[in-house]
Amino acid sequence: MNPLDDIVLSPAPVLSEECAPVEEIDDEIRALAKRMLRDMYAADGCGLAAPQVGVARQVVVIDVEWSGRGSRKNPYVLINPRVITADGPERITGEGCLSFPGVTVEVERPSHVVVQALNLDGDLMQYEASGNLLAVCLQHEIDHLHGVTMMDHLSASARVRAMAEYQDALNAGARPGDVEVEEG
Ligand code: NI
Repeated sequence: MNPLDDIVLSPAPVLSEECAPVEEIDDEIRALAKRMLRDMYAADGCGLAAPQVGVARQVVVIDVEWSGRGSRKNPYVLINPRVITADGPERITGEGCLSFPGVTVEVERPSHVVVQALNLDGDLMQYEASGNLLAVCLQHEIDHLHGVTMMDHLSASARVRAMAEYQDALNAGARPGDVEVEEG
């Protein structure tokens, strides 16, 4: 099976669900994290949330250092992540999402974020990021656990435009990880 086929695309209902916290980090959760990392790397993504593989649990994987085959991997697995602080000047970044292939949208978010989460060993970890890809990625992925996608951050008119662009990209055969679809 192609790992890209494992990734759930909008408008799957699971992408709008509130995900359940993980009660116990068992083999099922470890297997889920492994599967999510496989899919994320296959799609050259920098983050993936469990609902994006159809599982409504509070698990996120992130690797902001990965830049394609052959580069160094530095994966984070965040279980039950909580945003402790989100502040600093708002910053606009072009975001993509593996569940919306072929689309990039301009999203405004706080530039500084502090997140706490369990790792796979059950240790409570704290992540702090400011003005960089990790700051954006943490917020984007944690949003997914609460049924929120990047599209929900757009104005109504921008969302209509972005969803039309997404539909066109899908019709043109866009796959998870495609940033834009080649003409023709
Ligand atoms: Ni996403």
